[in-house]
Amino acid sequence: MMGIVFTEFFDMVEHRHGLRMSEQLLDAVAPANEGAYTAVGNYDHQDMMRYVAELARDTGRSVDMILAEFGEYLFEVFVRRYPGLIESAGSAIEFLGSVEAFIHVEVVKLYPDAELPHFEYPVREQGRLVMVYRSSRWLAPFALGLIRGCIAHFGDALEVRMTDLSEQGTRARFEITPVA
Ligand code: HEM
Repeated sequence: MMGIVFTEFFDMVEHRHGLRMSEQLLDAVAPANEGAYTAVGNYDHQDMMRYVAELARDTGRSVDMILAEFGEYLFEVFVRRYPGLIESAGSAIEFLGSVEAFIHVEVVKLYPDAELPHFEYPVREQGRLVMVYRSSRWLAPFALGLIRGCIAHFGDALEVRMTDLSEQGTRARFEITPVA
């Protein structure tokens, strides 16, 4: 998993829960590199899942809630780091509809080691989008957070509903519709 995911995760933990919590997570997980993460490095995906599980335990929330919260936080980080990628779209639906064919394609050019999920779009209509997530890893709640962050960023009156399709593998369906 890419270093930027780790460095931004610890930034979020420090902002929201304080430096003590970051130290607590590092003590509990005891990673091989002693927590010296750099944005351009590549690290064990399982370590991230251990930090998330530990933070969930320490804050009394579920792993899925932590992943979604982190996804939402990370979208704003992407807005600051890659403004050109995001401003090329005029709406949340337009942006989300371009993740598979454009956004993640650009990401792989920048970071050839990135491990990305795949999205299919069975429904693309005016004001409504369905995305089906498929990955070798179960990070669908993280995708949910990124989608929420995207909707908030564009300020569109949309809501997202996630359906777990994991009996068919690591898959989930996201339905993005106008607020009822
Ligand atoms: C400018 C916007 C975006 C950028 C720069 C970006 C970048 C990245 C990068 C660098 C990774 C790889 C992390 C790694 O290898 O460990 C990643 C993974 C991921 N991205 Fe994006 N992304 C963007 C938008 C989105 C959006 C809007 C979604 C949701 C619809 C999304 C869903 C995911 C998921 C779920 C993963 C985790 C990998 C997996 O599930 O297997 N991304 N993204």
